[in-house]
Amino acid sequence: MLPNSNIVALQTDLSETKKYASLKENDLHIWQVSLTPESAMLKMCNSVLTSEDKEKVKWFKFEEDRNNYIISKGILRLLLVDYLKSNNSELVISRQKKGKPFAENDRSFFFNMSDSGKVCVYAFTRVSEVGIDIEEKRLLHDLDELIQRNLTNKEQDFLSKNPSEKAKNFFRFWTIKEAYLKAIGEGMRLTPDNLEFSIENGNIKLMNQQGIPEQENWIIQEFSPKTSYFGALVYKNENTRILS
Ligand SMILES: CC(C)(COP(=O)(O)OP(=O)(O)OC[C@H]1O[C@@H](n2cnc3c(N)ncnc32)[C@H](O)[C@@H]1OP(=O)(O)O)[C@@H](O)C(=O)NCCC(=O)NCCS
Repeated sequence: MLPNSNIVALQTDLSETKKYASLKENDLHIWQVSLTPESAMLKMCNSVLTSEDKEKVKWFKFEEDRNNYIISKGILRLLLVDYLKSNNSELVISRQKKGKPFAENDRSFFFNMSDSGKVCVYAFTRVSEVGIDIEEKRLLHDLDELIQRNLTNKEQDFLSKNPSEKAKNFFRFWTIKEAYLKAIGEGMRLTPDNLEFSIENGNIKLMNQQGIPEQENWIIQEFSPKTSYFGALVYKNENTRILS
């Protein structure tokens, strides 16, 4: 489990962006921001959105969703501008064929983001493609159905062995699978039961995958950005230094 000291928690004055948004060769940075609206941060984030983003904002029915969108997208742009030493007006975020975002300004710079509940997290690196996913622990009324639909037989067996931790272990598999699908850029093209992971003894291993070319050397790490949140990070290269 990646310690929380390795995650930069962005405060409302955003001063950390200038302090930490710079990568050395093997660095991978994880940031987290609270999606609880704070007017100064909202204003700052709104000011850097593209006209397309601002158009999208208008379509949200609920203020909470609108604010989440403004903060998550605004912080992404603010951080990218600092990492890429660019200007907001010059920053162009495009998407790969299956939806994974990238910065047109620098194709050797990789990032990914995820939000759940009131938290949004980001990963930035030059080491390799990266995937990050978080989920807030919550009551899932359809837990058994989700387990059957998304986990392989072996993964389901693992959950059955420890019934008191069933929900917890489901969230762990869920974030690991999503982070992996996001690292390889596949998103929803693969269904989660195409992938099989083992999470025994805290060692996470990819055991099997169907429908995509063999991929090697992905490193999978879990983290918890906050109490009751599960998180997983997927990247390549043993020498990567994850730090705040
Ligand atoms: C992208 C995806 C993989 C994850 O989405 P999600 O968990 O709903 O949302 P997250 O906040 O974690 O991530 C969304 C962000 O990932 C990024 N993303 C989108 N497509 C992506 C892709 N193909 N590859 C990598 N990243 C992608 C984007 O930044 C996106 O934010 P945006 O759409 O606001 O720009 C999506 O395809 C999905 O809905 N997967 C669900 C798969 C599933 O059923 N999992 C259950 C596992 S048990």
